[in-house]
Amino acid sequence: MGILDGKVALVTGAMGDMGRAACRRFAAEGAAVVATDVTDIGAEEFVDELTAIGHDVEFYKADITDSSAVNAMAEHVRSTRGHVDTIYNNAGVMAVSPLADITDEQWHRTLDVNLTGVFLVTRAFVPLMRGRRGASITNVSSMGGFRVYPTQIPYGASKAGCLQLTQSCAVELAPDIRVNAIAPGCIDTQMARGYADASPDPAAVIAALEAGIPLGRMGTPDEIVNIGVWLASDQASYVTGAILVVDGGSTLEGK
Ligand SMILES: NC(=O)c1ccc[n+]([C@@H]2O[C@H](COP(=O)([O-])OP(=O)(O)OC[C@H]3O[C@@H](n4cnc5c(N)ncnc54)[C@H](O)[C@@H]3O)[C@@H](O)[C@H]2O)c1
Repeated sequence: MGILDGKVALVTGAMGDMGRAACRRFAAEGAAVVATDVTDIGAEEFVDELTAIGHDVEFYKADITDSSAVNAMAEHVRSTRGHVDTIYNNAGVMAVSPLADITDEQWHRTLDVNLTGVFLVTRAFVPLMRGRRGASITNVSSMGGFRVYPTQIPYGASKAGCLQLTQSCAVELAPDIRVNAIAPGCIDTQMARGYADASPDPAAVIAALEAGIPLGRMGTPDEIVNIGVWLASDQASYVTGAILVVDGGSTLEGK
């Protein structure tokens, strides 16, 4: 018995590090998982790995910035599954540049994926969630949504927008659908490593990041997904509009 038994979950950004962890954990807790990403590299092997151990997982390739593609995905899920119980809006991108060097493309892409994509998925899938007991949406924002990090202006703006979108949706979709956000700190994924790699001394960047974390290290994808699984479960039945900071204490030190 898992705490998500009988639920259908949609996980975006499913081919990324936290997305894969989410698919694994949601499935292990009993959910049927529709995994989606703009890339399908490795998707077949990933689905095979999970179905081989008895999980109900499928992959659907879609760009969440394309409303037609998102609507087509919702129609696919409606026709194959009938409904969705929980959405894990995890897809995201980060552009690292000082203000003067931020290109139009970087600005629009970051806002399109991290904010508009969450909106498009939410709008398309809410009709599939109406009337489902215990329905919920979890948006993966970031500490960057309310703290300032150098060279992350589009990312911070998009993640702040995601927090506002979360709380507006929590009110509008109550009492049927709970909507919450997770604000991760620095988590050991390709995205965090990419941020470090953009500097001349990636190891020094990682060391400096970790020195500012009271728990002394980056988090793991599972340490974020643990919260995502809980938020999607009926154990969190009175939690909506919440922003759960999962950052190893970084915020407390003002880092
Ligand atoms: N890693 C961190 O330190 C950290 C910290 C705070 C928040 N986050 C957030 O956590 C989430 C997951 O990040 P991650 O570290 O696993 O990153 P990741 O780069 O490993 O995964 C992100 C995934 O999103 C997908 N994606 C990008 N654009 C897309 C689009 N248009 N349509 C569909 N999918 C798209 C990518 O293909 C990728 O698989 C992101 O929203 C990120 O902003 C990460």
